[in-house]
Amino acid sequence: MSAVPDGLTGRSKELADLLVSLGQEHLLDGYTPEKGKTFFEQIGTLESSYPGGIKAYIESAKELLAASARGDNPLEGWVPSVPNGEALEFGSDAWCENEAIGAVEAKRCAFVLVAGGLGERLGYSRIKVELPTETVTGTAYLDYYVQTILAIQKATKSRPLPLAIMVSGDTETMTKEMLAANNNFGAAPGQITLLKQEKVAALADNDARIAVDDDGAPITKPHGHGDVHVLLHSSGLVRKWANMGIDWVYFFQDTNALGFRPLYATLGVSKKLGLHCNFLTVPRFPGQAVGGIAKLDNAAEGKSMVINVEYNQLDPLLRSTVSPSGDVAGPDGVHSPYPGNINSFVLACKPYASTLDKTKGVMGEFVNPKYADATKTKFKKPARLECMMQDYPKVLPAEELVGFTSVANWIAFSPCKNATADAVGKTPPACALSAEADQYFHCAEMLRLRGCAVSKMTSAETWDGITSDILSPSIVLAPSVAVSYTDLKTKFPAPDFVTISAASTLVLSGDVTVRSLNLDGGLVIKGTKNAKITVLECLVKNSGFKRVEAPDDAPESTRIRGYETVKGDDVPVLDLVGPGLFFVTTDPVTKQLTTTRKPDCSLS
Ligand code: UTP
Repeated sequence: MSAVPDGLTGRSKELADLLVSLGQEHLLDGYTPEKGKTFFEQIGTLESSYPGGIKAYIESAKELLAASARGDNPLEGWVPSVPNGEALEFGSDAWCENEAIGAVEAKRCAFVLVAGGLGERLGYSRIKVELPTETVTGTAYLDYYVQTILAIQKATKSRPLPLAIMVSGDTETMTKEMLAANNNFGAAPGQITLLKQEKVAALADNDARIAVDDDGAPITKPHGHGDVHVLLHSSGLVRKWANMGIDWVYFFQDTNALGFRPLYATLGVSKKLGLHCNFLTVPRFPGQAVGGIAKLDNAAEGKSMVINVEYNQLDPLLRSTVSPSGDVAGPDGVHSPYPGNINSFVLACKPYASTLDKTKGVMGEFVNPKYADATKTKFKKPARLECMMQDYPKVLPAEELVGFTSVANWIAFSPCKNATADAVGKTPPACALSAEADQYFHCAEMLRLRGCAVSKMTSAETWDGITSDILSPSIVLAPSVAVSYTDLKTKFPAPDFVTISAASTLVLSGDVTVRSLNLDGGLVIKGTKNAKITVLECLVKNSGFKRVEAPDDAPESTRIRGYETVKGDDVPVLDLVGPGLFFVTTDPVTKQLTTTRKPDCSLS
């Protein structure tokens, strides 16, 4: 009897024939007509979502599984060196020079958020992008990202800058609902595009036989964030962006609100060095569990590439080639000479579009089977091919320039990835509390570097086992206040007249310029986009905000951090609705904040 069930016609018959021709007839073993529609829909999705279909996937899987069983070293023959790039100190002249270049380029930038991940380590039951970046304003990650893009658009006077969000079956519905419920956070119709990644087949053995569950359905698993390149190609988005004059594409991940602060400087480096791919990186400590960006040369094959080398591969690679002592500090005696990858990078849009035309976005894949025993023939659980978005440069010819921009960690990277309980003892904890603390800290630190007198907290706070000494002062400068350090300087033109105590909480949102402020407590000033606000001679003292233990019935997003933030009754909240010029001062007689408004026709 043929393995293809009788009575199949049309697309179902074609797919059944395909499975048989690929040695996957076991998938048809338990076939019943009742299961037929769903079964062939699943097979059809596997066939259509992978470039080259199931055949290409199985062929690639067989090769990679064989290499894995042989124990091949994928980096055999490659010699590492430090690639071309620029290390920038926040606020330095070099930083500001690159920001000036980036400020011109930003009006031609598109954005790609990869948000299809399950977030198993975080253990939050919903999508990560709905979590608050901090608990003073409760601004969700997705809101913050869109706010940033709209602020860049306003600052550069550009048309709507496109944002693509990669979602998966795990995140699609909730992401759509969140955008719809919030009117796309103010983005223009069509400005945001959702791209859905599909899962790939899990494999039961070295012959790449597709694993099935108890109901006979194929088991599928996530293919990784590298899918984003295939989707950006198959949707035609990158080609469309290139045709409409977009020059740069910035890729970033779901829970790193700091990722935009160095954007202008990074775009400046991309433009100045003519980089096809520019990794935004942070200094890496030797042995740190963070990949390093390295130039790899293979003399025998006459090849060269700049890529992220995973930390567990970097040490053996260095030992076997240029550095017998392995992954050790470089010339500064502290950091690895190989900058640390944070999975944020800028691609030059037109060369990227041309590369996608050639490769269809297919990335180098890898497989990581957990073998049941030394024979390496059985797996403990089904394996699947995976791909990572930062591996993109692997498909580039050597003449395409790939480099890095290295900036301090505090201004670029603080993701919320780990459940609080698992984060205890980890450095950095990369949990909700540490991400929130870094969100406040980077604003406080930017103001300090500007010359404002911003005190530091004198004793640390601990919530659910995570301790931080940078949670206060809790300063939130919304993206609408400044999208670059150069912008921020103009918003704080007289830093000698700005003093913020360690116990303070300050929230500024909108076009706010602070000329003179002495804050010991809480202050919230929010302006609509046509309100131009100046803070003059403000002396504010009140009970401020407090972090208190999260009540048992608090929402899950609060419970996962253990605390919530509560505003004191005497904290002024100014919601200033334009159009108009607003001046906020402290009345010398009543000591109360007063706001005067002057109409300004140019702001309507
Ligand atoms: P993470 O390393 O944070 O993985 O992904 P994750 O799957 O979200 O979380 P864990 O490992 O289960 O805890 C880095 C970025 O890549 C996205 C994530 O949403 C995050 O922004 N990602 C990851 C995808 O978009 N698709 C994937 O298949 C995997």
